[in-house]
Amino acid sequence: MDGNGRWAKERGKERIYGHFEGVESVRAVMEAGVEWKIPYISFFAFSEENWGRPEAEVSALMDLMGRAMLQELDTFNAHDVRFMVLGNRDRLSEALKADIDQVTAATAGNRGLTMILFLSYSGQWDILQAAEKMAHDLINHPGQAVRPEDLSRHLVTAGIPDPDLLIRTSGEKRISNYLLWQTAYTEFVFTDTLWPDFRREAFRQALEEFASRDRRFGKIK
Ligand code: IPE
Ligand code: MG
Repeated sequence: MDGNGRWAKERGKERIYGHFEGVESVRAVMEAGVEWKIPYISFFAFSEENWGRPEAEVSALMDLMGRAMLQELDTFNAHDVRFMVLGNRDRLSEALKADIDQVTAATAGNRGLTMILFLSYSGQWDILQAAEKMAHDLINHPGQAVRPEDLSRHLVTAGIPDPDLLIRTSGEKRISNYLLWQTAYTEFVFTDTLWPDFRREAFRQALEEFASRDRRFGKIK
């Protein structure tokens, strides 16, 4: 969800104003996803690297996320949305972890859209923590052949299908340490639209572009 700061700057406002407006885009994309029966939508909300931003912006973002998820709880349940947060929990405040646990538990039985917020997440961190667990398994089963699935099931995304489509907003053309392992065959759509302007119509256009792709997964037709 990139481009919130630039969106605010263009309007002569503080960066946090862009983050507030970005929450409206999350809501719009979630509602469209429910309507279009998309099974999973993930949002990259905050990376491990984002901890290096000024303390005021970090705490404003953490506050905003805690408040937004509590505010949306009724909407999640009304739309049968299952909410989850994935990332490095060690770095989150006790208050935010309590909010996450509350909203996760309250929506755990929902069977419609699964909405995942990646928070304090980085792809390299995920692969490392999975590799550590896999190494532990191997100590108990030395010499055992290691397959990609053996790493996958230790990633924080275990049990969740790899993404079909990754939408990168705000004109950037890099993966920025997002789902490095899981995007092996993901289709990428790039748009100059800044995240706060990414609403239903922008989402529809990205899906249309995705639908026109010829996916061969390394094979031939
Ligand atoms: C939102 O956009 C991404 C978050 C880390 C919340 P940015 O805050 O990176 O906005 P730009 O890139 O400065 O425009
Ligand atoms: Mg940015």
